[in-house]
Amino acid sequence: MKKATARSVRDAFGAESAAHMRYLIFSEQAGYENFPNVARLFRALTFAGQVHAIAHYRQAKELLGEYCVYFSAPFILDRTVDNLTKASEAAQEAGEEFYPPLAAAARSQGEMQAAQSFERIAQVKKAHYEMLRNMLGFIEHAAEEPKIGGLYVCGGCGLVVEGKPPGICPICEAKQSCFRLVS
Ligand SMILES: [Fe+2]
Repeated sequence: MKKATARSVRDAFGAESAAHMRYLIFSEQAGYENFPNVARLFRALTFAGQVHAIAHYRQAKELLGEYCVYFSAPFILDRTVDNLTKASEAAQEAGEEFYPPLAAAARSQGEMQAAQSFERIAQVKKAHYEMLRNMLGFIEHAAEEPKIGGLYVCGGCGLVVEGKPPGICPICEAKQSCFRLVS
């Protein structure tokens, strides 16, 4: 793996590791505010962050040694409505501004596996942005949170879907059995 791609993979690992923990914290906060469905959505995103972090880490397995990783992350613990706002903004930024340039750079260097991984995760982030925005729309304008169905996370790409998972993941083509129900 070339140096620039390796740096991208490491930094993406750092960003997803932080996202994983941030969503876990947001989930607990939503629970305190009696938003069990929002809490479940954040737990699903927690697992998605784990899927992404592990994918990046495995890609970097040939890079032995110690490295600094660089990423930006919102440090907040506020009301759930604010956490949803920040989370949706972060998902949008990841899908539109963070991953696409990494994918383009990797592709230009012939690092096709890394490029495909970045491109898929960008698609996943855009889908998550839509879910977060929908949830935020309810929370902002209603006293109660909406009831949502089962949330499944694709173990291949981290895509979160509501309801019965598709036969084949639309992003990474993983089988339906690869989707994990989040409780
Ligand atoms: Fe997938």
